[in-house]
Amino acid sequence: MYKIAVIPGDGIGKEVMEATLHILDASTIGFEYTFADAGDELADKTGIPLPQKTIDIVKQSQACLFGAAGETAADVIVKLRRELDLYVNLRPVKSYPGTKSLFEDIDFVIVRENTEGLYSGIEEYTEEGATAVRVITNKASERICRFAFEYAVKTDRTKVTAVHKANVLKKTDGIFKDNFYKVAEEFIGIKSDDKYVDATAMFFITQPKMFSVIVTTNLFGDILSDEGAGLVGGLGLIPSANIGEKYGLFEPVHGSAPLIAGKGIANPSAMVLSAVMMLEYLGEIEEARKLEESLITVLTEGKIVTEDLGGTAST
Ligand code: NAI
Ligand code: MG
Repeated sequence: MYKIAVIPGDGIGKEVMEATLHILDASTIGFEYTFADAGDELADKTGIPLPQKTIDIVKQSQACLFGAAGETAADVIVKLRRELDLYVNLRPVKSYPGTKSLFEDIDFVIVRENTEGLYSGIEEYTEEGATAVRVITNKASERICRFAFEYAVKTDRTKVTAVHKANVLKKTDGIFKDNFYKVAEEFIGIKSDDKYVDATAMFFITQPKMFSVIVTTNLFGDILSDEGAGLVGGLGLIPSANIGEKYGLFEPVHGSAPLIAGKGIANPSAMVLSAVMMLEYLGEIEEARKLEESLITVLTEGKIVTEDLGGTAST
């Protein structure tokens, strides 16, 4: 029996969460859900988008499923990542049947450092304009690279690629790259290489099959993740995981989608695949595969799919 914190949030977050819990309930693994509030609706009622009680519920659970927040997303999800020290942002880039992917058989994962880099929030105005500080530490670089290699081992992947710009950002990305190859030495069974971020952006479109696991710093990871999403087509299918030493939070990449909220037409696949990532995180690999393969069957048949995939089915 796993204790799961459930934060449906706003808009279609609530709809895709309900559908996903319905599926999880059919599993032979038991889940005990604790529901927690966050988001715009809560902020309208109470003035607080992310109450301490919600953070506590997540901390008392083994994993958290998060739907979506609306305009308060920065105050909710960004704050949760920080409070829970979720230093890994994991984004699979995988083509599923029946979707608008540029290629078939794309299957790689982006491991993005989530706590520092150019998003450290150290900015100031100067006489000439403004500056931002790019913080890269040995500690954060080492732990994100270690996560990437361990993830490769756990998921039977054979190669990890560090993406950086160390030819220009000599010191910061020099540190990142050094830590990458230091960690790589401990994982003799896994191949390691590195690429510049600009070249990587091109290879996503021209030769995406060269990648297996990518590990990169915060800003590069943010941009490449969205490029990856574009590569395999459609927000309705893209999950993500935020993982730290103690906690894991799993959420679709999409937001509350107010334009389609309340109509019951949202595609629940991204939330379902987020649950697949949660099952992997919990070590329930077999159950994760079963759930993912069921979804692939539905997408391949193409009969019962939502409007965003060209169908007429409800959530
Ligand atoms: P969005 O991802 O909510 O929706 C953009 C469009 O993508 C929708 O209008 C819809 O056409 C389509 N779409 C997204 N998810 C879908 C699904 N599951 N099924 C079918 N179609 C889907 O992004 P938008 O409109 O930029 O943001 C709406 C709100 O969500 C904003 O208030 C924003 O702050 C918030 N947001 C929250 C996030 C989070 O909670 N992690 C992430 C992104 C946005
Ligand atoms: Mg982004």
